[in-house]
Amino acid sequence: MKLSKRILAIQPSATLGISAKAKAMKSEGKPIISFSMGEPDFNSPECASKAAIDAINRGESHYTLNTGITELREEVCNYYKKRFNLDYSPSEVIISNGAKPLLYEAIQTLVDPDDEVILFAPAWVSYVEQLHLAGGKEVLIDTIATNLLPTKKALQKVLSSKTVGIILNSPSNPSGAVYNEETMTMIADFARENDLWIIFDEIYERLTYKPAKHVNILNVAPDLRDKVVIINGTSKAFAMTGWRIGYALAPKEIIFKMGTLQEHLTSNASSIAQWAAYGALKDGEDDVRKMHHEFSKRRETILELIRAMPYVKVKEPEGAFYVFVDIRDCPIPDDTKFCEKLLEEKFVAVVPGTAFYTPGFIRISYASSMENIKEGMARLKEFLEELK
Ligand SMILES: Cc1ncc(COP(=O)(O)O)c(C=O)c1O
Repeated sequence: MKLSKRILAIQPSATLGISAKAKAMKSEGKPIISFSMGEPDFNSPECASKAAIDAINRGESHYTLNTGITELREEVCNYYKKRFNLDYSPSEVIISNGAKPLLYEAIQTLVDPDDEVILFAPAWVSYVEQLHLAGGKEVLIDTIATNLLPTKKALQKVLSSKTVGIILNSPSNPSGAVYNEETMTMIADFARENDLWIIFDEIYERLTYKPAKHVNILNVAPDLRDKVVIINGTSKAFAMTGWRIGYALAPKEIIFKMGTLQEHLTSNASSIAQWAAYGALKDGEDDVRKMHHEFSKRRETILELIRAMPYVKVKEPEGAFYVFVDIRDCPIPDDTKFCEKLLEEKFVAVVPGTAFYTPGFIRISYASSMENIKEGMARLKEFLEELK
């Protein structure tokens, strides 16, 4: 059967692919430890589950407003007021099935065929594929040599008459980099000078580790409010990946168009999941703090274990729950081969940096139990030592 050129050009998600392979091997009885998924291993907060159960008992089983229940959109506005002192109204918020479709909707709303969009590599897997689906073209700026941070010089170098916007992700998946005020201001100035929009994916904003501090771009450049689409959701901070709730905040006109697209795609996110997210945003702060505390401990442990390994180098990640490890000095510097061999021989699943447009690196997620981290890192060390 003839398939469309569009669908033939799209690449599968490498992170989901590796996780699926690891799961299949596990079901065959292999002692797999997977560090490939960007998913907290904690259960969702009780307040989220309770809000969902209450919603079921009340019979909230119908279509909701396409852009999401008013109560949740109001709660998102309250959250942004409390956390960032930003003023949004519910008509400037849309709820969807996780952050991913919102990124797609924002890109479809803002990108025309042949438009160029700036991204910082290492970059999360779905941005480029989603851009391609809109006919847009990614312009990747490699940040490896500049401490995982973009520079003004690099931005100026890639600017062209076709550049329309920037997709920004801080804290970053996969590098864990957190853009400080200075970097955010530099990016905002560049966007302002060149009339670019910014899609600001801050899904990991609750996960930064001292002394790093998350900076929302509108806190350093409030005048860009009309040019920024904020993407966030409950998946990472509230350990609610399976509920599939994300939210976007943007000027009304953009939200309206994203909503129109959503009407023809998925319609509203699950009514029950929306109520769960409402419960989480309202009462889940203690859970977020507890999970953050646990992630901090795991981060310290995993960094200490990786630093004791031969060949590899690591820059301390300041946010999210990933360590992006430099394997360029290994006897197997090809990250894809490295990951395949590690999975086959030691049953440890990690993601090759190539998936994030940065070969020569691997991404290890520490959203895994301390026991798994210790055992998995022991196997990785053994693997590296055997390469000697
Ligand atoms: C940077 C980034 N943005 C967006 C998402 C998508 O989040 P969700 O699971 O809510 O769709 C992820 C999930 O891995 C992510 O890492």
